[in-house]
Amino acid sequence: MLILVTGGAGYIGSHTCVALLEAGYSVVVADNLANSNKTVLVEVEKITGKKVQFYLIDVTDEANLDRLFKTHQFDGVMHFAGLKAVGESVEKPLLYYHNNILSTITLAKKCLEYGVKHFVFSSSATVYGENPSPLLETMELLPRTSPYGETKAISEQILKDLGRVNEHFAVALLRYFNPVGAHQSALIGEKPDGVPNNLMPFITQVARGKLKKLRVFGNDYPTIDGTGVRDYIHVCDLAEGHVAALEKLKPGVCIYNLGTGRGTSVLELIETFERVNGLKLPYEITARRPGDIAECYADVSKAKRELCWQARRTVADMCLDAWRFEENN
Ligand code: NAD
Ligand code: WQD
Repeated sequence: MLILVTGGAGYIGSHTCVALLEAGYSVVVADNLANSNKTVLVEVEKITGKKVQFYLIDVTDEANLDRLFKTHQFDGVMHFAGLKAVGESVEKPLLYYHNNILSTITLAKKCLEYGVKHFVFSSSATVYGENPSPLLETMELLPRTSPYGETKAISEQILKDLGRVNEHFAVALLRYFNPVGAHQSALIGEKPDGVPNNLMPFITQVARGKLKKLRVFGNDYPTIDGTGVRDYIHVCDLAEGHVAALEKLKPGVCIYNLGTGRGTSVLELIETFERVNGLKLPYEITARRPGDIAECYADVSKAKRELCWQARRTVADMCLDAWRFEENN
């Protein structure tokens, strides 16, 4: 079985390439390297001992994508390619709408033209907006006011509409919670450009001394200790969730939360990181970050029931692996 992985040189895509190769699939990666480096795929090959075919392609470019579909008969696609910085999407909405929506449209169009029936899409818990946790797949979507979140909700809608009228098209919309950590080899992981937006890469860079101090955005939320609560999921569990979803795909559109079902506060994450890695993290409490919500964690019973998949790795594993990757890179 040959799977096209768009955005496969990125953080989640590269870990999913490993999971796919280890499960016996062959993989073709299409990535424009807008937020990644091709050398990541050399590491994927090192980890798995298998080859990855790479194409430098922008997925919004129909002519190039068409050539790729002519060259390979894919059995399925996993669509990770996208821009993901929430703040940047507020500053550059057109860039986000263009890239994230056109890539979904172009890829889906090629799948339908070439009879590729299996489509797995990277969605996000951000589509739940301010719904109360635990978040359930059946909840009405309340996209947060970020163009990034809108691109995920719109892409989901496009794929749902296509699923409705193409009876053989099988789509999984995977709503990720907060992916963190790295492959235990420490060969691949998250490498944000510049100052990170997300908590875990910020923590590892403070621990490394690249950044002076962590800012905890608010301690007056109605949560266990006043700091924001999220459902952190180890990126390798997330990657395995993709393989499980691919294997269970059936005609129509299915939506799955990929999280652990457990919430962890910012202070709990800091405490765990310090304890398992034997480090001290300098931090200060600052004002809330605009747009943040108090808590966000998944109800994972549907994925467990239908995909026979659940996250196995602990928050301690996430902290150990994230730090090992930072130290090695
Ligand atoms: P990433 O930036 O590491 O990977 C995305 C990859 O897509 C990069 O390699 C980038 O170069 C590539 N890309 C972007 N636009 C492209 C285009 N038009 N054509 C070809 N390649 C393109 O991000 P990630 O964290 O691995 O996220 C993967 C997907 O999961 C994204 O769609 C993201 O929105 C989604 N997601 C991520 C998170 C998260 O917290 N990391 C959470 C929920 C959803
Ligand atoms: C986690 C918690 C912050 C940084 C974002 C996107 C979401 C999804 C995942 C793509 C919050 C707090 C953070 C810091 C802090 N991405 N924090 N100091 O905001 O839950 O989700 O990434 O789909 O769409 O919005 O993740 O890691 O930024 O924040 O105190 O320096 O850590 O307030 O409570 P978030 P995050």
